[in-house]
Amino acid sequence: MTLNSIGLNTEMTKELANDLNTLLANFQIYYQNLRGIHWNIKGKRFFDLHVKFEELYTDANVKVDEIAERILTLGVTPLHTFEDYTNAAKVPVGKNISQDEKAVNLIVESLTELLKIERAILDKSDDANDEGTNSMMSDFITEQEKTVWMMKAWLGETV
Ligand SMILES: [Fe+2]
Repeated sequence: MTLNSIGLNTEMTKELANDLNTLLANFQIYYQNLRGIHWNIKGKRFFDLHVKFEELYTDANVKVDEIAERILTLGVTPLHTFEDYTNAAKVPVGKNISQDEKAVNLIVESLTELLKIERAILDKSDDANDEGTNSMMSDFITEQEKTVWMMKAWLGETV
């Protein structure tokens, strides 16, 4: 087993960075979903939701950069083309969504997919003793679970 210059198993680190690239691609789909619903939302709850979706995409934008820079820290190039993002997409792509409940459901469905990817990375980063990636995943998971609860509450549903 070889260790890289940050003291992590070289092979496991590469694998984790590739998984983080999948997460990055899916985060970009989520981000673009949020831009779409921010722009296209219609109806009596427009003002609330337009602002809420902006808050979420601003947060997603920060996380996208954190993920990309973690990938670089692990010695791999972050995916940065739309083509690569589309090829790695597991998050559903929302198109022309203007109805408020459909928009909120798109957020829930997107986060459900991101959480699956993040939990798999959490397990793997634990095995690799990669505390940096592990704590990042654990923070993302906690925040996104709370967002899912809130979106479900808005829909009048439970998690
Ligand atoms: Fe805007």
